[in-house]
Amino acid sequence: MLFISKGMNDTQNAPSKTIFSEIRKWKEENDAVILSHYYMPPELQTLTKDGGVADFIGDSLGLSIEASKVKAKNIIFCGVAFMAETAKILNPEKNVFIPDMDAGCSLASSITAQDVIDLKKKHPGVPVIAYINTYAETKAECDICCTSRNAMNIARSFEHDTLIFVPDVYMGQNLQKGIEKETGKKLILWHGRCEVHEQFTNTSLSTMRMMYPDAEMLMHWEVPEETVEESFHDRGGVLGSTNDIIRYVGESRSKKFILASECDLGAILKGTYPDREFITPCIKCPYMKKISLVNTLAALKAIGTDDARKYEVNLSPDIISRAYVPVKRMLEFS
Ligand code: 13P
Ligand code: SF4
Repeated sequence: MLFISKGMNDTQNAPSKTIFSEIRKWKEENDAVILSHYYMPPELQTLTKDGGVADFIGDSLGLSIEASKVKAKNIIFCGVAFMAETAKILNPEKNVFIPDMDAGCSLASSITAQDVIDLKKKHPGVPVIAYINTYAETKAECDICCTSRNAMNIARSFEHDTLIFVPDVYMGQNLQKGIEKETGKKLILWHGRCEVHEQFTNTSLSTMRMMYPDAEMLMHWEVPEETVEESFHDRGGVLGSTNDIIRYVGESRSKKFILASECDLGAILKGTYPDREFITPCIKCPYMKKISLVNTLAALKAIGTDDARKYEVNLSPDIISRAYVPVKRMLEFS
C-alpha cells in the first residue's frame, strides 16, 4: 500500500426478507458457510449475525485466509471463479460451490499456464509472482501468489534484481514504480487488464476532480498508472487494495472521497462511515454481479443432490497440489 499525504444493486429487485431466512436455514441444514467479496451486491455484504447471510466478508486476501480456517463441510463462495478455486486449493477435502460458474475475470482469463511456461523459458531463473486473479492451472506454474494487499511485501522479499509479475499490466506498473524507487528491482510484465479498473482514466475522472477539489482519492492498484500519477497531483488519498481503501477512510480526516474502484465497494464504505461523503462513478464488475441471493440459495439447496454439479468447483489433485505451493507461500506473508 502507498499512502499519499494530504467518504441497491440494480441487477435484481429489492430482495424479500424470506430469501434471507431461507438462505440461513439451508446453510445450517447443509453445513455450509458463505464467504462474500466486497464487490458483491450489497445484499450479499451483510453478516448473518446482522440479519444478512454472509459468514465472512472480505477482500481476496481476507477471503483466502478465512477459507483456510473454515470448519463447515461446504463453502459457498460469493465472488468470482478464481477466488472460489483458491478456496478449493486451500480446502481440497471440502466442497466449494460458486453460485454462477460464469463469474469470470478479465485478468484471470488474460493468461494461461502455457504463457507462464513460455515466459519462464524466455527469462530463465527469474521468479514469477502471480496475482491471485489467475486460474489454478496458471498459479501451478508460478513461484508465489500475491493479492493487491501483500504484493509490495512479496516483491520486496526476493533477492533477485528482476521479477516477472503477471497478469495485470497496470498493477504491475504501479508496483514497479514503488519497488524500483525503494530497491531498484525491475519487473517483467504481462498485458492483462481489469476491465473495470481500466475505465478509471484521467478523462473519466476529470469532471469529478473538478467538482470536488477537496475530496481525497481512493484508488485500487489496478487503475492505470497515468491516472494514479495525475490523481495525486493536487490532493491526497490512498493507492492500495480494497482493505487498504476501507482502512484509509477510517484514518483520514477528510470528509469527502472519490472512489476509483468497483461501485459496490461504495456500499460498505457508506455503511461503515455514514458521516463521510463518497463520490462513486459506479462502474460495476459484470462478473461479480452474476452472483445474487437467488442463485446463492439455489447453490445451497443443490448440496447433496445431482444439481450440485452445476455449482461445484472441481480441480484435479495434481493442479491442487501444485497450485497450493504458491498460494501457501503467499499466506506465509500475511
Ligand atoms: P482485492 O484483492 O482488493 O480484493 O481485489 C480483487 C479484485 O478482483 C480487484 O478487482
Ligand atoms: Fe476481475 Fe476486474 Fe472484476 Fe476484479 S473487478 S474480478 S479484476 S474483472
